[in-house]
Amino acid sequence: MVVEGALAGLHGEALAALGRLAVAGRMVPSTGWFLYGFVRKEAVISSQIEGTQATLRDVAVFEATERAEHPEDVEEVCNYVRALQHARARLREGEPIGTRLLCEAHELLMRGVRGGESEPGTVRTEQNWIGGSTPATARFVPPPPEEVPGALAALEAWIGADDPLPALVRAGAAHAQFETIHPFLDGNGRIGRLLITLLLERWGLLGEPLLYLSYAFRQRQPEYYARLSGVRAHGDWERWVAFYLECVRRAADDGVGLAAALFELHSADRRRVLVDPASTVSAARLVDLLPQHPVVTVPMVAELLGVTAPTARKAIEIAEGAGVLRETSGRERDRVYSYHAYLRALTGEG
Ligand SMILES: Nc1ncnc2c1ncn2[C@@H]1O[C@H](COP(=O)(O)OP(=O)(O)O)[C@@H](O)[C@H]1O
Ligand SMILES: [Mg+2]
Repeated sequence: MVVEGALAGLHGEALAALGRLAVAGRMVPSTGWFLYGFVRKEAVISSQIEGTQATLRDVAVFEATERAEHPEDVEEVCNYVRALQHARARLREGEPIGTRLLCEAHELLMRGVRGGESEPGTVRTEQNWIGGSTPATARFVPPPPEEVPGALAALEAWIGADDPLPALVRAGAAHAQFETIHPFLDGNGRIGRLLITLLLERWGLLGEPLLYLSYAFRQRQPEYYARLSGVRAHGDWERWVAFYLECVRRAADDGVGLAAALFELHSADRRRVLVDPASTVSAARLVDLLPQHPVVTVPMVAELLGVTAPTARKAIEIAEGAGVLRETSGRERDRVYSYHAYLRALTGEG
């Protein structure tokens, strides 16, 4: 495959959009600022593609309270975040992107999830299939288990070797190849999308995982599957890569817009808290924590700010009075406060 003509144009646009996203990520003083929300947005949507019900709001509430309406679904999303964090730490140690790293990520992703039938961290030793109730009626039957280790080793070697293809294109090709191998009993979609994130970081295209690519895949889900099928069935790499590059561009552009919107929203909310004559230093510090902790409780704020519970409560009350935080539990005790407008903007949900 060569990247020329229309494909070269798409590549240039996607690369430029990624560059803008990297710049947008630096608009704030700390890298953790957008990372919290953007990583969870990707985790939620990547999990939703295959049916998980949890929303980003559920995840934020769970992180603050360890309570959830669908604990298993929320756990899957939290597992995804852990798998990503672990894999990034391993990248920084110089670990190659290959079988071992992906199995480690898979183990974290699948830990404690639904009966554990998915054999966390283990390459499959059985035949699997996608769509349909038997291999005979399936939409796609991946290679037999005895071929999987060799196919993964070849993918790892290709990732580690020099290749004339542009790195961004290679990351997309690696995803399609990984999905074709389908090395796990479950979780192949999520690990395969995580693989893209890791490759973008390793190859210096995006230093922080700010691209929530699953958003664009989900918007065009039938096409996403069809383009993957095209690669397998007739080696149609060009159309897959074109589709993938369009999705990268769209997700990156969306991320740039979202970063600006969140930054503006937060700046305005920060002002609203600061102009309140009753405002305290702790209230100001609380508002600065909210992008990384959009759902909070009194004990949590006390711990994060290193203040007493009454001081934390006062800070929350000020933020609530300024219309920034909203109590969501309806309880008298163990109250839960959410940075409602921020979460709404982040998720695009109502
Ligand atoms: N026709 C296809 N050919 C290759 N891969 C496919 C095809 N259709 C879907 N996929 C991939 O398989 C994934 C689903 O596999 P699965 O192991 O259930 O992953 P997960 O549980 O993470 O969603 C999809 O998200 C997609 O990436
Ligand atoms: Mg699945």
